[in-house]
Amino acid sequence: MNLKAGGTILKRAGAVLAALCALAVFAPLTGCQQTKSDTSVEAIVKATVDDHSYAKPQVARVNHIDVDLTADFAKKLFKGTATLTLTTEANAKQVILDVKALKIDKVTDASGAPLKYSIGKDDPMMGSALAIELPQGAQKIIVHYQTSADSAALQWLDPSQTAGKTRPFLFSQGQEIRTRTWIPTQDSPAIRQTYTARIVVPSDLSVVMAAKALTPKGEAVPGRASQRAYRFEMDQAIAPYLIAIAIGDIGFKELGPRTGVYAEKSMLDKSAYELEGMESLLTAAEKLYGPYRWGRYDVLVLPPSFPYGGMENPMVTFATPTILAGDRSLVSLIAHELAHSWSGNLVTNATWSDFWLNEGFTVYFENRIMEQVYGKDRADMLKVLGYQDLQKTLAETKPDFTRLHPNLKGIDPADYFSDIPYEKGAAFLRMLEAHFGRKKLDAYLKGYFERYAFESMTTDAFVADLRVHLLKNDGELEKQLKIQQWLYGPGLPDNVVVPTSPLLDKVTADAEGFAAGGDAAALKVDDYGTLQWVNFLRKLPAGLTVEQMAALDVRFDFSRSKNSEILFEWLQLSIKHRYEPALPMVETFLLSQGRNKFCKPLYQSLMEQPDWGVEMAKRVYAKARPGYHEMTRANVDKVVGTS
Ligand code: BES
Ligand code: ZN
Repeated sequence: MNLKAGGTILKRAGAVLAALCALAVFAPLTGCQQTKSDTSVEAIVKATVDDHSYAKPQVARVNHIDVDLTADFAKKLFKGTATLTLTTEANAKQVILDVKALKIDKVTDASGAPLKYSIGKDDPMMGSALAIELPQGAQKIIVHYQTSADSAALQWLDPSQTAGKTRPFLFSQGQEIRTRTWIPTQDSPAIRQTYTARIVVPSDLSVVMAAKALTPKGEAVPGRASQRAYRFEMDQAIAPYLIAIAIGDIGFKELGPRTGVYAEKSMLDKSAYELEGMESLLTAAEKLYGPYRWGRYDVLVLPPSFPYGGMENPMVTFATPTILAGDRSLVSLIAHELAHSWSGNLVTNATWSDFWLNEGFTVYFENRIMEQVYGKDRADMLKVLGYQDLQKTLAETKPDFTRLHPNLKGIDPADYFSDIPYEKGAAFLRMLEAHFGRKKLDAYLKGYFERYAFESMTTDAFVADLRVHLLKNDGELEKQLKIQQWLYGPGLPDNVVVPTSPLLDKVTADAEGFAAGGDAAALKVDDYGTLQWVNFLRKLPAGLTVEQMAALDVRFDFSRSKNSEILFEWLQLSIKHRYEPALPMVETFLLSQGRNKFCKPLYQSLMEQPDWGVEMAKRVYAKARPGYHEMTRANVDKVVGTS
């Protein structure tokens, strides 16, 4: 395959050697062990370069981090130290870390002796390389530093931005390349690290981290009566983007033996009610793909500016409060984040070009959990809605960005974020499921999680594994299933399995019937749940009359829906139809939460209405922007502009 590239002779020799080895007879003579491992999964991952990190882990690698940080809510920063434990090659002269928006005060060795260091050019996406000179044999270095207002991993909230309104709040978001803005380390998902943390905070606040809590109630800090310290430990090696923290007036409620919920105290009961079924999701997940390896599984419900639906931080998923519909109907999001405990946290994408290995696997797995707990009808509806998202994205996206394995050199991984890695990735696994059957595919997936537990994985290495363990080295079959086209090509191969749902077909017919002049009062919607409503609203065509919109609103009260997914679809429709009575609710919704998935498309729809929407988008955004997370701001800035 690589014969055209440089080093032809060597590679040819290698190929011949490999061919001889395949015949096995020559094995004792030619050292085939070596050749075999060159094409092994481990070797492929090792040889892969992460374009989004400056680190040179072959020379010196961070294995473990101890952070000791004090949170300063007045200045909105952390100050303290990160002690890094390294593995180095014999003559390593320096270690390179990733840093961005950090103020480095000094770097010392374990005994406190200063070490020389230099900070490279500051790239707007990547930040800088922090190169630290290593004394012979050094295994520990201590970085003294503080974060800054530009630390994009951290959002410091004023009391007014919280549910309780009386105390400030802080949360972090590391994925994809933000951890370097609050911890100086090698910020690549292939460089797994364990960590401990000691976090000092004002004594009226508590700390949650994606780690084992060693001091759940905190401990006194000698000489500092107004502060408490919390200690944590993560003793399983994780990718640095999964290090996470939240500080606030946070309470906890147990849900099951291994599950519980954290939230601001005023949101705790509501959160616990919504997430009551979590333990059964966990049991279902384990039945599918093997034991849960992280001890506890808790969820932290964050204040409304959290820019994602959920983030799979190990042991404690961070979640948006927009899943609190009051009827437990949005738990598929929890199934998704829980599934990442296998696909993502246990076996992790080695680079951001391999992101589909996290998200595609997880969407597939999420749906299997949902099917097991809530039945096939509900799982099928979720699949169909996901497929609608995929079709829409494919239609709107340049073909080059529809690849599962894109080249992201020089590109911020956040700019690749779309439904492609999620839904095309899941569609790939469903194609395999259709061919091999569930029994074989499940055995394969379970084996995959076992084989690579606590390792990072590339797409190429996955293919190597797939060939051995599922395709059984059948090259013809690989072609027939269009594996290369699926993983490396644009668009959607024609052996995609198009999901169907009789329940949603009925809903689509209802929507079309209504649009064609049917009576809102005659719609039979007794069995409609959230997913049916989402489909109903999506299937209403453009060009409804104001009377039709009003009839729907009167009958179903959409403008006052407490369900964020339904409300979102309704507000989209309302903007497209300039349905005036719902427009105040557009403003209220955009001001009351900052989830990128809702904000960006709503502003986009407003901007598509030149005679009134542009003005409204700019006016609302001017008010809302200060409360949004940096990620949502960056996205909405592109749509609305910053002025
Ligand atoms: N890991 C993602 C969130 C993420 C992706 C954060 C990329 C930063 C960069 C998480 O698992 C996720 O996919 N969340 C979805 C919800 C899910 C049900 C599809 C979200 O936030 O909308
Ligand atoms: Zn995900």
